[in-house]
Amino acid sequence: ELQAVIFDLDGVVTDTAEYHYLAWKALGESIGVPFTREFNEELKGVSRMDSLNKILALGGKENSYSDEEKLELAKQKNDHYVELIKQVTPDDVLPGIRELIADIHAKGLKIGLASVSKNAFAVMDSLQLRDSFDTIVDAAKIRNSKPDPEIFLKAAEQLGVDPAACLGIEDAAAGVTSIKGAGMFAVGVGDSMTLAEADIVYASTAELSLDQLLVQYQGTAV
Ligand code: G6P
Ligand code: MG
Repeated sequence: ELQAVIFDLDGVVTDTAEYHYLAWKALGESIGVPFTREFNEELKGVSRMDSLNKILALGGKENSYSDEEKLELAKQKNDHYVELIKQVTPDDVLPGIRELIADIHAKGLKIGLASVSKNAFAVMDSLQLRDSFDTIVDAAKIRNSKPDPEIFLKAAEQLGVDPAACLGIEDAAAGVTSIKGAGMFAVGVGDSMTLAEADIVYASTAELSLDQLLVQYQGTAV
C-alpha cells in the first residue's frame, strides 16, 4: 500500500532547473567551457560542487583551479542563481502539481521533498508550498548527492515510512537512480530515453494524476 509521495524540487515542482542551467552556462562560458543542453542533463539533480567538477572535467580543467578557486566559482554560480530565483512566485508551480498535492492530502498520504539544493527552502517559501509538505530534507545534512539514494532514504525516514511504500518523482537521470537505489517506485517527468530507469515516465507534470500513479504503483507491488 502506498504511504508517501516524495518530490524532487527543481524541474518537478517548479521550473528552477532552467535557472540552474542558465547560471551554470554563464559560469561555464566565463571560464571557457561552453556546454549544451544535452550535457546539462548530467548536471540535473547533482550537488553544486559535483556539478562544477563535471563542468571542469568537460573542459579538461579539473586540475586548473585550487580548492579555494573552485569555491569561488561555485559561489559565482550560486550568486547568479539566487538573483534569478528572486522572480519565483506562487504562480510558478508547474501545471498539475498543486492538484496532485491536494489529491495526496485528500487520500491521507504523506508528502516529502528530496532536493539536494541548498536553496530548496527559499524556493519552497517563494512558491508558498512549505506548509503543504510533511517534511523537507535539509540538503546541508546530506553527505552524498544524487545519484546516491541517501536523500530519498532520508525523506522516508523523516516521514516514518518504509521506502518500499514510497513513490518518488524526478526530472533528472541521477534522481531516478537515487529513487531506485532507495528501493522506491520511480516516476520520471521528461524524456523517456533520458529517464529510462524510471518505472514510468510522463512527458510533463500536467500528465501526473494520483489515481493513475496508484494503479501503476499497485501493478508492481509484491
Ligand atoms: C538540484 C538541482 C541541481 C543543483 C543542485 C544543488 O539537485 O537539480 O541542478 O545543482 O540542486 O543546488 P544548489 O542550489 O545547492 O546549488
Ligand atoms: Mg530536478
